[in-house]
This record gives sequence, structure tokens and C-alpha cells, in this order.
Amino acid sequence: MTKGNNALELEQVLESAKTALKLGAIMSSDRFEKLEAIAGKLPSISEMFKLEPNRLKNFVMREGPLRADFSKQAISEHAREQLIHLAKDCHLEEWRERFFAGEKINTTEDRAVLHMALRGIGGDKAVQKQVKDMRKKLRNFAEKIRAEGKYRSVVHIGIGGSDLGPRLIADGLVASTENKFDLRFAENVDGASINDALSGLDPATTLVIVVSKSFTTQETRMNAEAARDWLAAKLGEKAGANFIAVTANRDGAEKFGIASDQIFDFWDWVGGRYSVWSAVGLSLQIAYGSDAFDEFLKGAAAMDTHFRDAPFEKNLPVMMAMTGVWNRNVLGYSSVAVIPYARRLRKLSAFLQQLEMESNGKSKTREGGDTGLTCPIIWGDEGTNGQHAFFQWLHQGTPGAPVDFVAVLKDHEARPEHHKALLANCFAQSEALMIGKSEFVVKEEMMAAGVSKADRAVLAPQKTFPGNRPSTTITLDELSPFALGHLIALYEHKVFVQGIIWGVNSFDQWGVQLGKVLANSILKEFDGGSGEHDPSTEALISLRAEKSA
Ligand code: F6P
Repeated sequence: MTKGNNALELEQVLESAKTALKLGAIMSSDRFEKLEAIAGKLPSISEMFKLEPNRLKNFVMREGPLRADFSKQAISEHAREQLIHLAKDCHLEEWRERFFAGEKINTTEDRAVLHMALRGIGGDKAVQKQVKDMRKKLRNFAEKIRAEGKYRSVVHIGIGGSDLGPRLIADGLVASTENKFDLRFAENVDGASINDALSGLDPATTLVIVVSKSFTTQETRMNAEAARDWLAAKLGEKAGANFIAVTANRDGAEKFGIASDQIFDFWDWVGGRYSVWSAVGLSLQIAYGSDAFDEFLKGAAAMDTHFRDAPFEKNLPVMMAMTGVWNRNVLGYSSVAVIPYARRLRKLSAFLQQLEMESNGKSKTREGGDTGLTCPIIWGDEGTNGQHAFFQWLHQGTPGAPVDFVAVLKDHEARPEHHKALLANCFAQSEALMIGKSEFVVKEEMMAAGVSKADRAVLAPQKTFPGNRPSTTITLDELSPFALGHLIALYEHKVFVQGIIWGVNSFDQWGVQLGKVLANSILKEFDGGSGEHDPSTEALISLRAEKSA
């Protein structure tokens, strides 16, 4: 934020961020004070381009097909150095080593975190063998299904991490890879979800894949039951052949009635929101082919090795994470907008909501103490659609939000004019957010257009843009399976780094439990059971009984 511009607001956000950070004991107060002092004197982003002649070079990072431009963030070179020190203060190097070594860093669940092993990186010999065997099994199965021609449609049932990754990547792969199947998803417990997914399909030519790490998830089990009944109604005893499970709870799937040889395993060291790389991606592998899926894994593996080996100053996930920490903890922004200017990535913000907010949306440290400010709200929609909806707020709202713009440089749609317009809009938005438009310039323009002094006084402030609003622009050379893997792994590692800085366990999700327990007890009450609730909830339960009769 520019000095003098919104000075009071800046002072307030700094004060609250400072208090919150001190609570978390995630950094020495010395370091925080340095960061705070830098922020207090920070020139505007546009001014920093003038003051730092190598700014563009220093703030642009490229890794394979992915280029990330952090130069439009409100961070000076000096601030960046201090942020790197902060990462070191928080022992990020040691945590990174422990992570790749497969230590049980998910302490509250006593589990290792090894989704990188699914991409061939890290893990001990036993883990590597498990992964290799599973990859072979998945390839054989997927390629058999693709070759034999029995199935025309695949219905993927799962929710959260068992849905969002496959759904995002299913869209993304369309850009470069032929999909041989009608691939559908059912996630919500709302009956519309499974009804829509099955609508118009022939059970005889439909493969149903039920994906659930726990195999206890209410939504998934109910949708799986509905799909099983739908298959059985036409196929009778033969229905089982069209029904596959992917789970880390083999017993649960068998008890549900799925034959042992129809079950694909994954392991407790794969977190749900990090699981698209495992057998959870089976529906993608069937639809788009194992070669494309392998490329997707390779793209992620390349980002893994970069994250593991690159020094912090040149490390993309570290840079991205520390930029986020700066925006959240020092500048006090409470949300981040993720705007893919690529229809095929339109599920990116939904995917990242789970990845980031379920991982780092916490207020207790690993040791059980209080944190400072942690994960901001992640939100967004595809560009250019968002421009006609919420960009007003981004440009003039209080206080706006940092944006991640994501764009693909290659046109995959054989619509070069559309693609040019799409990119022009993307680049224009980050520029507009940064440069803004002063009231002085607006008034000059109005004067030249003959607008009266009285009208100028009223209208000019409305037409003024404060500018100095930070963003990162990520471009992919093309939307290949490799680039998709690269992009998702970048965000995964960003989340890991931020979790370390904030002192939380990024790999559990206790905050989802209470609502699930209460939903189960309310459900029993719908069927005649008794329970006690607050008056508002009681009234809702009674209302349902009245109206659904
Ligand atoms: O309720 C949250 C959650 O546990 C997520 O962490 C998980 O991705 C999702 O539910 C689905 O869980 P499962 O794969 O076990 O069905």
C-alpha cells in the first residue's frame, strides 16, 4: 500500500496483524518488526518498478512450462529478503527435509505425508514399491477398459478431495487430450447430483467408480447405494462387474458389498485433498489414457524436485507462499482471489478452497497453542466472467484482495481471436489493479469533455481507482497434462510452506467433524429419534416435519 494512501487503514491492519502474529509465536518479534517497518515505508508498486531497475527480472520465476510474475505484488526486494529469513527462522529447510523423508509430520493423525511418492518422488523402498505396483495395476485396468469397448460412460462418485481434483483435471485435460468416455461426477448428497450424473445413461455401458478414502462419507455412500440400485435394476447380479471402489478402507468397501478384486487401494499417507495423483485419478486415467495421466504425474514430479532442491530465493512455491504470508500477516488482507483466464481451469478456485482452507484454515498450532492469522479466504471464478460480477469490488472495494491470475498462452480452441481477447483482458486487469487512476487525471479528462465543476466534484471520486492492488500472474505455455501437474503441485507446496510459517498441521481437518456428527443426529430425529437443540435449530427441524409431510 502506498505511504499516505489509506494510511489509517494500513496502520489498523498492521496493528491487528502484529497482535495476531505475536500470539502464534511463529516468528521472532524482531523479524516481524522489520517486516512491519518495511511495510510502513513501502512505496507503491508502480514506484517500486522505478526504484528497482531489475524488479521484473528479480520477481519473475520460470520452471518448465510455468512462469510466475510476482513483480506486481506490493513487495520490495528488501521485504523479500526478510521473508526468506523468516522462512529460515521457522525452520522451513528442516521441515522440507522431514516432509520428503516421509516422517510422520501429520502429527495429530500420526501419519506421514507422501503424496509426492505417488509421482515417484520421496518415500522409502516399501512405499516406492507399493506405488509402482499400484501404477501398473491401474494402467492395466484403465487400458483394458479403454480397449475393450464395453463402456461408454464413467460415473465418478466422491466428494471433497475425492471429487475436486479429478473434476478440475478432467476439465483441464480436455484442452490437449481426447476423452473417449462420457465422464460424469456425483458428489453432493442432494439427490439432483446422482440423478443428473446417471440421467440418460445405459447401466450396461456405464462403469461406476466410487471414490472415498474413508469409505464412511455419508454423501458418497448414499450416492453409491443409489448407483448400485440403478445398475442392479437393469443388470441384476451382473451389476457388480460395473462397480469399482477406490479407497484406503478396503474392509469398509468390502462390507459395502464390493468384490475384493474390484477395489483399488490407496494409503493413509495420502491426504484426501492431495489424492488426485493416486488411484483416485482412475476415472481420469480411463477417460484420457494412462499416458496422459503419467505426464500429469511427471509435471508434478518436476515441481517436487524443484521445491526440494532450489534455494529459497529461487524456489517458486516458497516465493508464492511467502508472498501470501506478506499479504496476509503484514498487509492484513483476509482473502485471495484466484482467477483463471482459462475456462478449462474454471474449477481451480473451488479446488484450491479445499486445498488451502482445509489445510491451513486453523487457529491452533501443532502444539495446541493459538496461532496468529492463518489461511485467508480463497475465492474466485473464471475470467472474463468475474469482470462482469465481482471485479468492481477488486478495483474499488475496501480493501480488495490480492489476485492470482492464471492464463494459458497457447490457444487450444482454434479460436485465435477469442484467445487474444481473453489474454488482453487478463493482462489489463492486473495492470489496472496496479496503476489505478488518480482523481486528478479523472478530473482532467472530465474537464476536457466539458463536464461542469459541480458534476466533476461528485463524479470524479466515483471514477477514481486507488490502484496499488497486488497480484501475481501465472502463465502456462500450454495446458498440457504436464503443465497441469506442475501447476497443482506448485499450489500444494505453497500450502505446505505456509503451514510451516503459521505453525499449523496442514494435513488434518478436525474442523469438519462437529457438523457431520450433528447432521447424523438430526437425520435420526427426522426418522423419529429424539434430541436436544438450540431453539433456532429446533424450529427448523419442526418446520421440515410440517412442510415435508
Ligand atoms: O469432510 C471433509 C473430508 O474428510 C475431506 O477431507 C475429504 O476429502 C472428503 O471429506 C471426502 O472424504 P472421503 O474421501 O473419505 O470420502
